[in-house]
Amino acid sequence: HQSFDHFNVGLNNCCLSDLRIQQILELFQSCEQQSEDLEKKELCRAQLQTDIQRIFPCSRVYLAGSSLNGFGSRTSDADLCLVINEGSVSKKAHAVHVLSRVQKLFHSLSYIQRPQLIQAKVPILKFKDKFSGVEFDLNVNNIVGIRNTFLLRTYAYIENRVRPIVLVIKKWAKFNGINDASHGTLSSYTLVLMVLHYLQTLPAPVIPCLQMDYPECFDPLMDIHCVPNGSRNIPGFISMNQSSLGELVLGFLKYYATTFKWDKYVISVRQATVFPKPYMKEWRNKFICVEEPFDGTNTARAVHQKVKFEAIKAQFFESWRLLQLRKDLNFLLPLGQTRPKR
Ligand SMILES: *[C@@H]1O[C@H](CO)[C@@H](O)[C@H](O)[C@H]1NC(C)=O
Ligand SMILES: *[C@@H]1O[C@H](CO)[C@@H](O)[C@H](O)[C@H]1NC(C)=O
Repeated sequence: HQSFDHFNVGLNNCCLSDLRIQQILELFQSCEQQSEDLEKKELCRAQLQTDIQRIFPCSRVYLAGSSLNGFGSRTSDADLCLVINEGSVSKKAHAVHVLSRVQKLFHSLSYIQRPQLIQAKVPILKFKDKFSGVEFDLNVNNIVGIRNTFLLRTYAYIENRVRPIVLVIKKWAKFNGINDASHGTLSSYTLVLMVLHYLQTLPAPVIPCLQMDYPECFDPLMDIHCVPNGSRNIPGFISMNQSSLGELVLGFLKYYATTFKWDKYVISVRQATVFPKPYMKEWRNKFICVEEPFDGTNTARAVHQKVKFEAIKAQFFESWRLLQLRKDLNFLLPLGQTRPKR
């Protein structure tokens, strides 16, 4: 890791927004997933598909999540979805049954280490691939995860500021302890949707609303095998807003620190807007409401404790204040070896 200390020199007499752009780009380039990282995951996926087809002949294995959606970093784990057509595997009990058969198979495969069945809301089989060293989470028929992977991927590449901003925000959230759904804070998925929502709803948006502009490419009923190709030919977006990366990161923090009404609205990337919280269990009394773009569930349901919610809001506010004051990402994130004193 390169030291970024030289960016601190002469803070008061050089162009502050350029400084932050450089920091954001360097952080982005040092942590974005490389093609060789993806190739290793793809090799494992292909081998697994061949092996799993021995017990489920017509099944397929898809890579999903951050490994493929354009927002992965070098250290990202890999999500896999096993698609089988048998009965209603959407039923949790059936998914567990399928995964325990797969787990048995895994015990006989030399490249798989520590297969472990987790009976969560979406049951998963966790394991490590011996060759790549990558940790994998395999689910069964969580089809919506494949659809949203390709939606996010299209957003990631439709405008070249999107990926650097999202990666920096993910690093910021992780460093500040608010990016861990298993401990009641934000999932990476929710964070990405929050950034996309901000970029979509600026007076001059930085990204379009893909599901409204290209409904046929993101049809929630499209056959799953067609989904990876369904959004291939969408052209890049030319934004009228030429704000710098630094301005956009600052604007994102400011929006959630001062403008967005957490208690009143649901964030909808599907419609590039917010809508009032409906009177339903899913949304009422929930601290943060972010609509899943395909199945309409609340992706932020993990945030169910007031204290965690308050910590998240406080972090947005504090980071916005600091960045506005110091114009230097070093105050939000450890860019180099040393973290500056606050
Ligand atoms: C462009 O983006 C910035 C955030 O970087 C925002 O403050 C500004 O309002 C946007 N301009 C327009 C015309 O939307
Ligand atoms: C998707 O596109 C690729 C490359 O054009 C092609 O090889 C593949 O068969 C297509 N898949 C489907 C399911 O249409």
